[in-house]
Amino acid sequence: MIITVDGPAGAGKSTIAKKLAQKLGFLYVDTGAMYRAFTLKALNDKVNFADIDRLVFLARETNIQLKQMENNEIKVLLDGEDVSGLIRTPELTNAVFKVAQIPQIREVMVQWQRSYGESNNIVMEGRDIGTVVFPQADEKFYLDADINIRAERRYNELKEKGIDVDMHDLLEQMKARDYKDKNRSSGPLKKADDAILIDSTGLSIEEVVDTISSYINDEKRK
Ligand code: CDP
Repeated sequence: MIITVDGPAGAGKSTIAKKLAQKLGFLYVDTGAMYRAFTLKALNDKVNFADIDRLVFLARETNIQLKQMENNEIKVLLDGEDVSGLIRTPELTNAVFKVAQIPQIREVMVQWQRSYGESNNIVMEGRDIGTVVFPQADEKFYLDADINIRAERRYNELKEKGIDVDMHDLLEQMKARDYKDKNRSSGPLKKADDAILIDSTGLSIEEVVDTISSYINDEKRK
């Protein structure tokens, strides 16, 4: 069974998809972490982002693993090295779009992502999962929330990690990222026509997980 969760940053995708996967006993797959880890590698290797052949070559020889830990956290391994912390810095976040807008790189990522669905029950979250990666998914959700709430959530997440950012800058960066994610020609952020829209603005995490779970149970009963 394949469940997709798409939506913009700070809508609650990661927290909710992770909890949902745990509840269902499914594998949780964070595709943003894949784009982030590959961007880190390209930056470390000082690849010119305009050199698409070189980037694609690099992507093909990159190994990214999402390792589920006992405490339900996910470790992101880039060629065997734990980069979970390094891929969440604001600098890296602002660089990901350069890689994520390249259709040839998205193709490589989409191949990796589809391979997860071949032999596992999964909850996969991202931007284009219900539209491009798994258009035939069993259940699709599109999670959104008011931009101010999303920025506040992200601000708190970063603060918890000891990363201090200016709230106003963060809000502007998130608006810019939303725009880029929604307007790129390859794999844009878009609600699939058959995805269920959930606005998490006034809802707690538990309420969103319960809402999604009830849709899944209804579907199973059919
Ligand atoms: O956690 P947050 O929502 O901030 O971002 P993320 O899910 O880790 O994704 C980081 C960036 O990767 C996004 O802004 C997208 O540009 C890109 N991405 C993508 O293009 N396609 C996906 N399926 C997932 C992420």
